[in-house]
Amino acid sequence: MARMPTNDQILEALRGVVDPELGGDVVELGMIPDVSVTEDGTVTVGIALTIAECPMRSQIEQDTQRKVGAIPGVREVRVETRAMTKQQRAEVMSTARLKARENAEPTLVNALTRVIAVGSGKGGVGKSSASVNLALAMADLDLKVGLLDADIWGFSIPRMLGTEQRLEAGEDRIIVPVEAQGIKLVSTGLIVESEETALMWRGLMLSKALEQFLKQVSWGDLDYLVIDMPPGTGDIQMALSRLLPQAEMVVVTTPQKAAQKVAVRVADMARRSYMPVIGVLENMSGFECAHGDVHHLFGRGGGDELAESLGVPLVGTIPLDEHIVSGGDRGMPVVRANPDGKSARAFAAAARRITELVPAARDETCTARVARLLEALDAPAGAHPKSVVNLG
Ligand SMILES: Nc1ncnc2c1ncn2[C@@H]1O[C@H](COP(=O)(O)OP(=O)(O)O)[C@@H](O)[C@H]1O
Ligand SMILES: [Mg+2]
Repeated sequence: MARMPTNDQILEALRGVVDPELGGDVVELGMIPDVSVTEDGTVTVGIALTIAECPMRSQIEQDTQRKVGAIPGVREVRVETRAMTKQQRAEVMSTARLKARENAEPTLVNALTRVIAVGSGKGGVGKSSASVNLALAMADLDLKVGLLDADIWGFSIPRMLGTEQRLEAGEDRIIVPVEAQGIKLVSTGLIVESEETALMWRGLMLSKALEQFLKQVSWGDLDYLVIDMPPGTGDIQMALSRLLPQAEMVVVTTPQKAAQKVAVRVADMARRSYMPVIGVLENMSGFECAHGDVHHLFGRGGGDELAESLGVPLVGTIPLDEHIVSGGDRGMPVVRANPDGKSARAFAAAARRITELVPAARDETCTARVARLLEALDAPAGAHPKSVVNLG
């Protein structure tokens, strides 16, 4: 009879079991809290899953059965799955993120650039208005800011910033972002002739377009890259987390309770692609009429409620304000058009809050230094984003 397998052998075999969503093996991700073997060759493997109803559960269980079952001396494999605690989940997510960062395909976004994706469950809640005003408000804080319009065929940022410039590529085929109102901008709207042409291009894979905007644009050394996400969840969000694992998300929601369900879905998706949610921005909140009375046309409290259920801060509350509409329509966002108004101040406060929660890398002097050092150490000559940017 074969000898009893050792714990090391079992762990070694478990390295062949991969959590496809988290992109790592279950051992390195810390998903194996315990392993035991009895003398008669029965192996019990405990597996902690990020969530109990993990869609990958049966695959992980079956793989475990097969891999461990193949070790000589194993007679039976028992798999005991359980859900992780909040703490464990946070740890596994951060391991997965680190790993993803190591494996991420190189983009031209500097490793020190903070990436803030502005998302929501559905269209029309004000993602684009928020992206543009937050980006401008950050630039007003003397930060270097880029804005990527990732709503590839539903772009609206060029109009909101009132720019009709075109994107151009140099001989190296590297695209130079347009500069508008002090921020760097890339949008499909700066390539196609009109919204009609855009419609013709719809067949193109969205994630490919996003990939190009990240890999072929000389973003330079931005402090923040704000990304205006298309409505809903899906391809673009997955592609973004694959390409830029440092991306984090601000979820925009309206104050009515019904909006929470959709917003929760985005946040859930963000988590599954291990994109942390920084906070919730409530838009279209109280409307202040000429008499100074505030009317809650779209209900109230939704932002707070969502933030609480996600365990993240409410980063701001933007009033329902016609200046936001007119600003967007005339290419002069409210933060610039009416900087002392209530909405502009609300956006400025939200921008400050976000930059506090996710400080610019240069402010975290120590971390930033270490990051730069690491970057310098592993950059193969000429291959690093930074060197490409510097050549230009
Ligand atoms: N706080 C607000 N008050 C009034 N109108 C707003 C506000 N935020 C956005 N809007 C308007 O709502 C519409 C949708 O906003 P938009 O930013 O394009 O949303 P999304 O990008 O989520 O589809 C636009 O006409 C915009 O001007
Ligand atoms: Mg939009």
